Amino acid sequence: MTHPSPTGWRRFTAKLPHTNSRLVRGLALASLVSQIMIVITGGAVRLTASGLGCPEWPRCTATSIVNTPEMGIHGVIEFGNRLLTFVLTAIAIAMLVSLWNLRKERKDLFRLAIALAAGIPAQAILGGITVLTQLNPWVVGWHFIVSMVLIVLATVLVNRARLSTEQAATSAAPLGSRLLRQILIAASVLTTITVMLGVVVTGSGPHAGDAGAARNNLDPDLMTRIHAAPVYLLVLTVAVALVLVYSGSAAKRLRKSVVILAAVVLSQGAVGYLQHFLHLPVALVALHMLGASLLTAAMANSLYLATSRKEEATARQEASGAIHQPAGLRNGR
Ligand code: HEM
Repeated sequence: MTHPSPTGWRRFTAKLPHTNSRLVRGLALASLVSQIMIVITGGAVRLTASGLGCPEWPRCTATSIVNTPEMGIHGVIEFGNRLLTFVLTAIAIAMLVSLWNLRKERKDLFRLAIALAAGIPAQAILGGITVLTQLNPWVVGWHFIVSMVLIVLATVLVNRARLSTEQAATSAAPLGSRLLRQILIAASVLTTITVMLGVVVTGSGPHAGDAGAARNNLDPDLMTRIHAAPVYLLVLTVAVALVLVYSGSAAKRLRKSVVILAAVVLSQGAVGYLQHFLHLPVALVALHMLGASLLTAAMANSLYLATSRKEEATARQEASGAIHQPAGLRNGR
């Protein structure tokens, strides 16, 4: 095996970004988008009953790494989802390489990128356990929840990739008022509970991923009611957050994030009820999975912005020419 010479390596790294360039920011966004995408393709596997389209893991069958024609469309769908892991891996590696020169001064970005990269083998193994346990609904549920954690990490990465080194190092007061931060923490806890209960409802429902897969034997109607209960509180807390960002002089970016959060919560709640009353048509179930991913990202975004430092956001807005007043007037609480 030949190794690149030290000079070759130095020449290569010299070409890599030395600041949080457009490439770094673009790759952070690509990480977030791809993490959401794989939830949807994973959903397609479950909703087309292709969960055991590749009955083995890590090979597709005992004798083949890839799916074979006689495995039909289920094999194509399940193997296609496995292939998407390589796209995620390529993005994760590109992210780490793009941060190479920044690894010391931007430890925050580098650590987040490492955590996201580590999430890929972890999810691949959990996906493998899902197949080897014949789609045990609790394992399928954890597989989904780990994806939500990775979406949160990618959302923070997108936000922090916008900051210059000086902005990232600031330790000023948080951007959101104390009450707003408390309300958004409560909303995040409620979102987490709702998502966790959601996967339990799925485990009791009809879309197991394969006709022969076990269910968790809980009552789907009762579980749906339990899952919807914290949503009322979530809607209430987000409504309070909306009032707070509009009644105070919250930064524009924070206000916008809470408006997006409110829109996503309401849409997701509406889709939830609709799919329940229409007896879970696959298109709506897929939309509900997308909604859960978007809500997780929107929630993490609002909470991140409210707890992030004043200077971070004001410096960003000044850089874009959006603000011309002194900081004290802009973010008074
Ligand atoms: C607005 C907040 C909501 C969030 C974040 C949320 C999240 C989730 C999640 C993560 C799942 C599991 C997806 C999966 O395992 O693939 C799920 C499933 C489900 N949710 Fe929600 N949900 C919300 C609201 C609702 C509401 C208001 C209802 C209506 C009663 C509802 C009904 C359902 C049903 C019936 C399932 C099971 C779908 C299946 O069997 O595949 N959800 N939800």
